[in-house]
Amino acid sequence: MIVAVDGPTASGKGTIAAAIARRFGLPHLDTGLLYRATGWQTSCAGGDVDAPADALAGTSFPASLLCDPRLRTEDAGALASRVSVHPAVREALFQRQRDFATQPGGAVLDGRDIGTVIAPDADVKLFVTASVQERARRRWLELSARGGEFSLAEVERDIARRDARDMSRADAPLRPAMDALILDTTAFAREQAIEAAIEAVAQAMRARG
Ligand code: C5P
Repeated sequence: MIVAVDGPTASGKGTIAAAIARRFGLPHLDTGLLYRATGWQTSCAGGDVDAPADALAGTSFPASLLCDPRLRTEDAGALASRVSVHPAVREALFQRQRDFATQPGGAVLDGRDIGTVIAPDADVKLFVTASVQERARRRWLELSARGGEFSLAEVERDIARRDARDMSRADAPLRPAMDALILDTTAFAREQAIEAAIEAVAQAMRARG
């Protein structure tokens, strides 16, 4: 049972993927972390995240970096979005994600291209989205709670920029798979969104028999 959860920044896909994994007892991979670690490693080594060779070298990050809380920052997200445009980076991170997806017993992966590239054979594909304004509001609340001093307008601008980069790149752009179920959570509270996603997976499981 492979569950692919894709969607733009701050759509809630990570929370939804984690809830699905808990509910169905499946291992979960947040694939964005791999790109965040690559961007962080490239930058810490003094490399240029926009240069393909430097960014490719960044994919050899130490495994311990994945637990570094600094990867969760907006800066790390922006670096991730820049290294993720390079086909060589995506190729270098492909097998690791594919192996995770195809492990015996199944898995849940969240990202941008899980249903289209990493696991086009996934049993369930969800594309979680919400309006830019709503995603900015959620991210702004989260950042403010952590003591961040960004304005709502700045957060919205950053999210719009990240969306544009993720959707317009030539290699594995952010887009729903043809057979994905679109879950627009703009008007949903967190728990409602989780419930709708879990129901979609349960339905797919029943259909499989
Ligand atoms: O999901 P998260 O915000 O952690 O992802 C950070 C960035 O990594 C995204 O903006 C995107 O550019 C890139 N990414 C990707 N493919 C994935 C996951 C993330 O290109 N499967």
